[in-house]
Amino acid sequence: MSTQEIEQLRERALRELAEATSQEALADWHARYLGRRGEVTQRLRQLGSLAPEERPAVGRALNELKQRLESAYEDRERQVRESELAERIAAETVDVTLPGRRPAIGTLHPVTQMIREVTDIFAHLGFQVVEGPEVEYGYYAFDALNIPPEHPARDVWDTIFIESEHKEIVLRPHTSPMQIRVMERRQPPVRVVVPGRCYRYEAVDATHEWHFHQIEGLAVDERITMADLKGTLAEFARQLFGRERRVRFRCDFFPFVEPGVDFAIDCMFCRGEGCRVCGGSGWIEILGAGMVHPQVLRNVGYDPERYTGWAFGMGVERLVMLKYGVPDIRYFYQGDLRFLAQFDRIPL
Ligand code: DAH
Repeated sequence: MSTQEIEQLRERALRELAEATSQEALADWHARYLGRRGEVTQRLRQLGSLAPEERPAVGRALNELKQRLESAYEDRERQVRESELAERIAAETVDVTLPGRRPAIGTLHPVTQMIREVTDIFAHLGFQVVEGPEVEYGYYAFDALNIPPEHPARDVWDTIFIESEHKEIVLRPHTSPMQIRVMERRQPPVRVVVPGRCYRYEAVDATHEWHFHQIEGLAVDERITMADLKGTLAEFARQLFGRERRVRFRCDFFPFVEPGVDFAIDCMFCRGEGCRVCGGSGWIEILGAGMVHPQVLRNVGYDPERYTGWAFGMGVERLVMLKYGVPDIRYFYQGDLRFLAQFDRIPL
């Protein structure tokens, strides 16, 4: 074996080492040159078959080659390890300056939002917010509200009855029973608003649901007048539907108020000119109201000579439909997120 051959072996080994760019290729290279059956190792083993005078020079050259290749291997191995790591870091880099992905959180149901908006308005006017049972005695739903059994007015509320042997029990068809429950439990002055779910035995269509929500209002004290009612409702309507709203009272009948009124605002879609929403009249009725009937006050033990009061009741779905132009009440209860997600103005 000549020094020239050893020189060629060295050049080939170093060239191939420079071409190895992965840990695998390096391991393969190491086995081929420096492993047990590697070219350098085998040549060292064959030293014994050389002529004695050749051995020292070839032996020294081979040992130098072996050391040279070992240290070149270590350098190369470190280089490859570092560049593999650098590649991985580059590939896995997270750009922390990118905007985050907003997690999908829900929104409040439009009816819940409207209940909060309306009760907020009344809370700022001095009303307390209270709630009552959805399963109600007939006494509170009707009798105490001056709607006796067999009275034709009872048919106005298409009631869902719950079976009971002793007492009439219903799913409340309106929130008015809470007028009685509140007045039974406290003395004037009374100022409450009552949001809640109601039920009626009703054919469902674009403007009727068999369950829906109402907000009841009640104010009772000495010297409460219809002017207070009008002022309070006008302020409420203007906060909810715009400061420029005009308001209208007209006579209406409800057994638990006398006189009874319907309360309307000028149509915010056509500003009173007449359009599809207001049915051409220019006015939109938004609630029923009136002065609490003296018999109702008597039913809760209030002296109608001393106390007067007024009450009102409104449908919440209808308010949402008017405020946002929702054409069909059935949308509220179909659980369709494409509809519901549009009402994301008020955070949870
Ligand atoms: N309870 C009535 C209804 O469901 C609405 C109503 C009208 C409530 C007049 C009142 C009122 O408090 O004074 O149709």
